Amino acid sequence: MPGLASLLDSRLPAETVEVLRTAGELAAEGEHGASEIYLVGGSVRDLVLGRDAKDPDIVVVGNGPRFARALAERIGGTAGSVSQFGTAVIDAPIGRVDVATARSERYSAPAALPDVTPSGMHDDLRRRDFSVNAMAASLLPDSWGSLLDPYKGFSDCARGRIRFLHDNSFQDDPTRILRTVRYEVRLGFKLEIETAEALDRDRSYLDRLSSARILAELRKMLAEDDRIEVFRRAEELGVLSAISPALRVPESSLKALEHFGRRSSGVDELLFVACMTSSLTEQEAESLIERLAPDGAWQAVIRGTSKFREIAPVLESPGLLPSEVVELVERIPVPVLEVQRVAGPKTHQRQHVEAYLRRHREVRVEVTGDDLAESGVPRGPVMGQLLQELKTARLNGRIRTREEELELVSRRLPMLLSREQIGDGEPTGAVSQ
Ligand code: CTP
Repeated sequence: MPGLASLLDSRLPAETVEVLRTAGELAAEGEHGASEIYLVGGSVRDLVLGRDAKDPDIVVVGNGPRFARALAERIGGTAGSVSQFGTAVIDAPIGRVDVATARSERYSAPAALPDVTPSGMHDDLRRRDFSVNAMAASLLPDSWGSLLDPYKGFSDCARGRIRFLHDNSFQDDPTRILRTVRYEVRLGFKLEIETAEALDRDRSYLDRLSSARILAELRKMLAEDDRIEVFRRAEELGVLSAISPALRVPESSLKALEHFGRRSSGVDELLFVACMTSSLTEQEAESLIERLAPDGAWQAVIRGTSKFREIAPVLESPGLLPSEVVELVERIPVPVLEVQRVAGPKTHQRQHVEAYLRRHREVRVEVTGDDLAESGVPRGPVMGQLLQELKTARLNGRIRTREEELELVSRRLPMLLSREQIGDGEPTGAVSQ
């Protein structure tokens, strides 16, 4: 492609160009384990498409980790860990730079991680997912910016299509099924017909991926700018249910997502998880957790909706005190409540959730445990009980100031202490409503 050299110079940040030029010059010295050197993958695709390229991926023909150490030294960075596939990461002043060894890959079984062998650049491009991601731009000074494009990625960029490189691509690496959706939506591309047919045929191979690999792909989908459309399309292609029947994004969830999407661009991941799982039964929630094995915060949110359903009938009561609302909902993760606030039935339940999120959640007791200790309250159950009573009284508007809090403490303390001495329990909060 004519002009990629000037795109390299003009579309990448000046500091990145400097690092890439230094890398090319270093390789040309011929002593650092690299005979050829290329910018590859997403950066080249994005340059060709006139989009901003992100962290550069470099491939050398030779010994990537050795070259990475030399490059790190030259650019004032640190060469860190080397992946099982031989990719070294440099922590550089411009950010992260990946340096890989050109390699061929062989898959011993569908969805297995590949066996890799150092190889030439054509093999390295052939092992990749789609033609648009299988282009390379030389970084050697003599051939700076010359495009290596054996699989016609440039032409597919121009035609706006996602095309795989061989018929086993999705079986070898089913994560590519999910990658397809991201690229389609992000780039506004269409699936080439044979690629679409293979995706349809091979969808079930998603079942063979480990939880960790599936979860990593879902998180990448959630990190896309237009994640609503990504999930809408994933649903349309039937790839979510192929991961787990409990992973589905019905129109009601998409509507809730749209609401948040419009309100703020920085909507966090857990809010999306709450939307996506808002129609799950308890059993479905458990099976999704088993399939994805996500961290505790995801698990709490996935379980949150069915937990909310348990308390929803009680929340329907119009006359609940704020402290009663708090007691009911404070163990439900906030993202789940946020979804109920916009998508739940428009009844008392929704008003209580709204009041909790807007007001009750912020209510704080001013005196601290240390203040109470100074006023002679022993640390332990009595102090816990007093703090709880103060919170309840604050929530229900019975007290509003620090002075009123201390007054309540001095009224209640003798009673609580004498009850403690005779070992008598008193129902929590009963006095302070
Ligand atoms: N790749 C692949 N198959 C995968 C993952 C990655 O062939 N399952 C190749 C593609 O050539 C891709 C490159 O490795 O371009 C880098 O992968 P990644 O960083 O995930 O993708 P990018 O193309 O950089 O895309 P994105 O913009 O989404 O980060």
